[in-house]
Amino acid sequence: MNFEKMISEEEINNKILELSSQINKYYNDEELCVICVLKGAAIFTCDLIKKLKMPVILDYLVASSYEDKTYSSGIVKISKDIDININGKNVLVIDDIIDTGYTLDKIVEYLKEKAPKSIKTCTLFDKSERRKIKNIEVDFKGIKIPNEFIFGYGLDYCEKYRNLPFISKLIK
Ligand code: IMP
Ligand code: MG
Repeated sequence: MNFEKMISEEEINNKILELSSQINKYYNDEELCVICVLKGAAIFTCDLIKKLKMPVILDYLVASSYEDKTYSSGIVKISKDIDININGKNVLVIDDIIDTGYTLDKIVEYLKEKAPKSIKTCTLFDKSERRKIKNIEVDFKGIKIPNEFIFGYGLDYCEKYRNLPFISKLIK
């Protein structure tokens, strides 16, 4: 496998600071339910919520899409639901990356049925060139990346390399 470093730890940390201050400003002191989409968003969520100033309730959801190694098929299944009650609450869904948009779209539609007060989204990376869901707009959006397969900082390549503190890209 060939890969090269693409985004440094420093660049990631700077973006997290920027996103956290946008989120702090938007919600002020209002309580926030953060829903982390496992597994990819685990590391990003941990680093981000440490910078949030409002009372945060954290929960996890697992969404799996039938996919090959690097591409999503569009069929998304919620394979582990949240445990908390989000009825009447402010909800922020956090994912690692938005690519086609199928995953986040499915999660938002699913969580809306639980009647939260508000629902917003945040992703660390945005591969907008490959978007299939045209009307999806991430509310707190991180680093724009070209159409490359990336891994590290929570994102995997065949379930490996989530532990890298920086982002690498796959060279085929
Ligand atoms: P979407 O449904 O196509 O928007 O893809 C979202 C999910 O696909 C993310 O939550 C990731 O788990 C995975 N994904 C998309 N692009 C990449 C990538 O470049 N590297 C690692 N995982 C990715
Ligand atoms: Mg994911």
